[in-house]
Amino acid sequence: MWPMSPAAAIASWRRFGAQQPSFRSLRGSSETDPPNLPTRLSRMVGRDETAEAISAQVLDRGFVTVVGPGGIGKTTVAVSVAHALFAKFGGALYFVDLGALDDPSLVPSAIASTLGLSVKADSPIQALLSFVRDQRMLLVLDSCEHVIEAAASVAERIFKEASQVHILATSRESLRVEGEQVHRLPPLGCPPDVTGLKAAEAMSFLRPCSYSWNASPRAEIPLC
Ligand SMILES: Nc1ncnc2c1ncn2[C@@H]1O[C@H](COP(=O)(O)OP(=O)(O)OP(=O)(O)O)[C@@H](O)[C@H]1O
Ligand SMILES: [Mg+2]
Repeated sequence: MWPMSPAAAIASWRRFGAQQPSFRSLRGSSETDPPNLPTRLSRMVGRDETAEAISAQVLDRGFVTVVGPGGIGKTTVAVSVAHALFAKFGGALYFVDLGALDDPSLVPSAIASTLGLSVKADSPIQALLSFVRDQRMLLVLDSCEHVIEAAASVAERIFKEASQVHILATSRESLRVEGEQVHRLPPLGCPPDVTGLKAAEAMSFLRPCSYSWNASPRAEIPLC
């Protein structure tokens, strides 16, 4: 698959572990925030309907990828959806930041580790599949584009072999595998023409608006 010496694999895995959010930050900012999840934005602008639609898709179809260019708000929406669905999955909700992974062969191990499984070097994918096969859970795979083929392959196998596992992925490109429902995230519009919009609220439109779909992810375009 992706040949790598054991020493390099261990070093890469350690780097991944070091880059994952700490348990403290995963717990969120308050005692009521679900474990395993980054804190959601206190004020997510203009995405409530989108988040509701994606939540329904995740429950109904079981495998949704939120797709869009860098900085448009994919992770923000996915985290919001995950918080909204937390109770529906009885708290069985796992968030894996694949953006911190620099070796695609470690995708199964990264997921297994997030689920609390001890990672075996020989066949982490088999161990992962055996574990999730009879479980009901929501698995959030964030930033799949860094390891797209590996993430796509693992997501497809989990979707096919573990019927109660619902997958919510985010990626700058779709995974292009069986079962995947692609939800393309459009840029946010201009702030609504209402009085009383707070400065911070208006400012929060800037970042998601400021990246062009076709240009490089960091290219800024004029607002509205
Ligand atoms: N609806 C929103 N309201 C307010 N702020 C937002 C909203 N969406 C995104 N942001 C802010 O914009 C920034 C980028 O959002 P986010 O990380 O979700 O983008 P992304 O699409 O996941 O990017 P990447 O492709 O790099 O992973 C973050 O600082 C986030 O807080
Ligand atoms: Mg993201």
